Amino acid sequence: MTGFVGEIRRTGNGLLIRVCVIAAIGGLLFGYDTGVISGALLFIRDDLGANDFQQEAIVAAVLLGAIFGAAGAGYLADRISRRWTKVLSGTIYLVGALGCAISVNAEMLIGFRLLLGLAVGTASFVSPLYIAEMAPPKVRGGLVSFNQLAITSGILIAYGTNFAFQNVSGNWRWMLGVAAVPGAMLAVGMLSVPQTPRWLVSAGERDRARSVLRRLRSGDQGADVDTELRNIVEANRKEQRSSVRDLLKPRLRPVLLVGVVLALAQQFVGVNTVIYYAPTILSDTGLSNSGALARTVLVGVTNVVFTIIAVLLLDRVGRRKLLIGGTVGMIVGLLTLAVYFTSAALQDRAGYLAVAGLLVFIASFAIGLGPVFWLMISEIFPIGVRSVAMSVCTIANWAANFVVAQTFLSLGNLITRQGVFYLYAVLAVLSLVFFIRRVPETRGRSLEEVQQELARAQQG
Ligand code: BGC
Repeated sequence: MTGFVGEIRRTGNGLLIRVCVIAAIGGLLFGYDTGVISGALLFIRDDLGANDFQQEAIVAAVLLGAIFGAAGAGYLADRISRRWTKVLSGTIYLVGALGCAISVNAEMLIGFRLLLGLAVGTASFVSPLYIAEMAPPKVRGGLVSFNQLAITSGILIAYGTNFAFQNVSGNWRWMLGVAAVPGAMLAVGMLSVPQTPRWLVSAGERDRARSVLRRLRSGDQGADVDTELRNIVEANRKEQRSSVRDLLKPRLRPVLLVGVVLALAQQFVGVNTVIYYAPTILSDTGLSNSGALARTVLVGVTNVVFTIIAVLLLDRVGRRKLLIGGTVGMIVGLLTLAVYFTSAALQDRAGYLAVAGLLVFIASFAIGLGPVFWLMISEIFPIGVRSVAMSVCTIANWAANFVVAQTFLSLGNLITRQGVFYLYAVLAVLSLVFFIRRVPETRGRSLEEVQQELARAQQG
């Protein structure tokens, strides 16, 4: 069995790689815009005289906007195509970033962060959807997870940008404004790549779909474009366009459940308390501010490195093993943090335990639930409901993200910091049981085969 890199060398071509990299810029901006604000807020607070409520709103606006973006984009992805939806989100990223950079008061900034959120929510699932519909089955896991790699890189770049601009005049305006560059790259880049063959078939453009497939598979001697196209046409014929209501029909309900539980689990294990509050958690272990910030960068690097490992492994060992193994690792990390914060003695003498807990947790998320959620929701739904269903899962994910981000600190006051980590650990255990029992393996199968198999499993 060749690995991801070998398989890409054997079957990939320039167009396929270019398409996936450009689409993943959406992920980069997702990571950047959610990651940049914790650092930028320190300066915004003083500069714009934002009160506590306004500060929370500046942070939360992107998450709220993302919920609405995810809702609208399901419709747009079908109506105007995946590609044009991404052009639109790149344009909104551009306008939103510039608008944030020139904001003269907190209200204006909140408005532009809300606008940015629309683009973040849209891109968060149209990117994996677009890539999944372009990629050959054998490397789809790795290619779709380019998007998660871009998210984690975006978070890391945001940490770096905050550090780099901290002493520059107009610091926070630069921090928020530089995202206009990748926004423009996304919008312009998407104009230069084709529509997905699956969308073209559903729009009745079979000849164009064949020609795109030919170009995408031109590096692969063994590719059978006609059979691939026939399967897409067949799957499309069986599935007429559907609405949210169709998702609740008995046939689709179990698949939707898998997508929504993955979405909720991805957030309710508390990953973004680490992404958004790592410096707070670390400074509570007695570290100085600069020590806490340095270790936060380590968290960001670990997240990227383990996502790279996931990209390399997803098509080799499969989604399930990484998901299940990663969730076990997250439970170990969360329990380590919980035990650390429970014991005064450990807090006095073993600060490294908290750092270790955070790193084990983030590495395990990065290798499993992080990429696997976005990948799976792009694989398990039939074409007729794919974008609507992905949109529902994405809304659930952003809504859960919002709830966790808004409650982490106050929940800590209510049930103690260790109580919060125990709670996340319990939720991770429940998720693990669900994953073991219900999540299918999708490695190496075409999207159409995955559908057939899920349909059979439900009948049987
Ligand atoms: C999640 C984000 C999270 C990021 C961390 C993504 O898959 O959806 O909420 O911030 O991973 O790497």
